[in-house]
Amino acid sequence: MNFPLYRSRRLRQSAALRALVSETELSARHLVLPLFVREGRRLRRPIGAMPGQFQLSVDELVKEAADAFAAGVPAVILFGVPDRKDERASGALGIVPKAARALKRELPELIVIADVCLCEYMSHGHCGVVRGGRVDNDATLPLLAKAAVAYADAGADIVAPSDMMDGRVAAIRAALDRAGHRETPIMSYAAKFASAFYGPFREAAESAPKFGDRRSYQMDCANGDEALREVALDIAEGADIVMVKPALAYLDLVRRVKQRFGHPLAVYNVSGEYSMVRAAAANGWLDEKAVALEMMTAFRRAGADIILTYWAKDVARWLATLTAAS
Ligand code: PBG
Repeated sequence: MNFPLYRSRRLRQSAALRALVSETELSARHLVLPLFVREGRRLRRPIGAMPGQFQLSVDELVKEAADAFAAGVPAVILFGVPDRKDERASGALGIVPKAARALKRELPELIVIADVCLCEYMSHGHCGVVRGGRVDNDATLPLLAKAAVAYADAGADIVAPSDMMDGRVAAIRAALDRAGHRETPIMSYAAKFASAFYGPFREAAESAPKFGDRRSYQMDCANGDEALREVALDIAEGADIVMVKPALAYLDLVRRVKQRFGHPLAVYNVSGEYSMVRAAAANGWLDEKAVALEMMTAFRRAGADIILTYWAKDVARWLATLTAAS
């Protein structure tokens, strides 16, 4: 393929030629919009660290989801913000089932995913039961399983454990099956790293840990082989979809996981990845739309089937106008 016989630029001459040889398809049907729900009515509370994102009451959540669905986004993932927190995460059984019921009633075709984690509902802000100052893995599993069953009972189409306890996929699978939810898929946050990119989310979900950090259960960002072990475990335990999270700084793992397992794969384009672009765009330093679309394309190119992103509705609209224009 020596120059001048081969000239890479021949196929870059026009938009039509570039489209003809484009390797990566980006479409709204792969997108999942994360939404934050809390008690109340007509509540649309802006999240300071995530401009353009809101904590929503159920009525407003339904409107937001309807808007996204109309734009072409097929799925949402729900995070609950409870009024009260305790040491048993009882709030996990409150607002999210209510929201899932309302969404399935108003928008039966929308895919409703329920995030399964305890941090938002725990007074200490950790993802599991705390005993003697430590997160107790096995004491946490029944609570996660109970929440997952409550979400499936409420009509959630998929449950998505994000806690990083060992054995939680098996525990949730067994509990779902016992409760008659044999057909409810599990999307596990299989390789979830202890990441500073979650900073803005913790304001959104009011879920920052009150002591210590999450490094005893979330992964060390230095480890790639371990991520493959985590994914293998979750698949063996029955995960239908596995996830790598965060997305942008972990695309090597997206590629390795897809190549190794060929399993349905999601990436979570997390809050920090969103907020840093929004902040730069607000300063006029970056073109938000161009950067976001470039990121989405990179996630797909690396091997992601599904993209969880706060830009889901925007991306769906941007893609629709791009298609109309070409
Ligand atoms: C809860 C959870 C977190 C995120 C998704 N589920 C935060 C955390 O683990 O601290 C982060 C999402 C984001 O940053 O957008 N366990």
